[in-house]
Amino acid sequence: MLSLAFLLFLALLQTPVTQASSSATSTVALNMAAEAAAKLYFGTATDNPELTDTSYVTILKNTAMFGQLTPANSMKWDAIEPEQNVFSFTGGDQIVTLAEATGKIMRGHNLVWYSQLPNWVTYGSWTPETLTSVIETHVRTEVSHYAGKIYAWDVINEPFNDDGTMRADVFYSTLNTSYISIALRTARAADPKAKLYINDYNLEYTGPKIDAMVRLVEDLLAAGVPIHGIGFQGHFILGEVSPSQLQTNMERFTALGLEVAVTELDVRIELPVTDADLEQQKADYMSVVQTCRVVSGCVGVTVWDYTDKYSWISSTFPGYGAACPWDANLDRKPAYDGIAMGFTEYTT
Ligand code: G3I
Repeated sequence: MLSLAFLLFLALLQTPVTQASSSATSTVALNMAAEAAAKLYFGTATDNPELTDTSYVTILKNTAMFGQLTPANSMKWDAIEPEQNVFSFTGGDQIVTLAEATGKIMRGHNLVWYSQLPNWVTYGSWTPETLTSVIETHVRTEVSHYAGKIYAWDVINEPFNDDGTMRADVFYSTLNTSYISIALRTARAADPKAKLYINDYNLEYTGPKIDAMVRLVEDLLAAGVPIHGIGFQGHFILGEVSPSQLQTNMERFTALGLEVAVTELDVRIELPVTDADLEQQKADYMSVVQTCRVVSGCVGVTVWDYTDKYSWISSTFPGYGAACPWDANLDRKPAYDGIAMGFTEYTT
């Protein structure tokens, strides 16, 4: 029979991704903290395969903790319209049903993006007219299906390169920037109450990308195109949050009458993780949430899944991980306290 000591020895052999041991102490529920700070929500991304994990779902369903959901994959083009005019809403519906049953706000993610785009769109032989029709059909059908159930749509996702030029995907190559107004106007007609967003990463810093996004929004507003919000994805590397730049950049849009949101927050750490890293991560989460708190037009913060168990980071950035506020065992990390402090304490 295996002795307890031997079993412990075997457990220790499992290579830890963390050498850290500190955990959260806050007793504040995060969506309640967000609402107390006059925000609409604190939320999380989730994905359909995870919904069979009962421990994960128990935390996810707690609306004191999460007041908003974003589907990480199941509302994207490849999931919704894998073949032309063949629509499948099963995955998206499952998450909307969960949100409705637990009283959570939904963000729709996303309608027009170069990635997770089926080959029939990416490699089609389009004229401006035929691609316009494809965009209109996709956006109208998806937004109509969910009309009345979605607080905000990421209508356009990641349109810019980091140097501020437009990403040369099939949409831009065929239609120049007009694909953006085509999608926004179509979404508006299909659900007049939904907030329409453009969502991108690396908007958190000063530089050509944020300047390009501001110019785009000014052009859209001048042309009377419906645009209501900008999503700051917020995929940070440990120690690289600049709250002053983030606040300045958010306020460039709120000054134009738009709202903003932190839509995909995580803070990735180079492995192995130390206690000092977790303290820095706590400070980073606090800075971002506090910035949203003090910008009155920032409506809420969404983490890009709440647990390291289901984070996208390790598969995309080898050697990095531990980016979420809950660890892979679903225990809260110091980052949790950082989020709670960001919503509840005013410090500058
Ligand atoms: O659906 C297939 C499945 O059939 C197959 O068996 C499996 C094998 O790997 O892959 C599955 O597709 C994966 C998909 O997630 C669904 O799980 C893709 O390989 C994988 O690349 C994809 O990753 C997603 C990523 O977007 C793609 O860019 C992540 O889960 C998702 O979290 C991530 O989310 C994006 C936001 O939409 C936009 N901003 C950046 C963010 C992080 O990349």
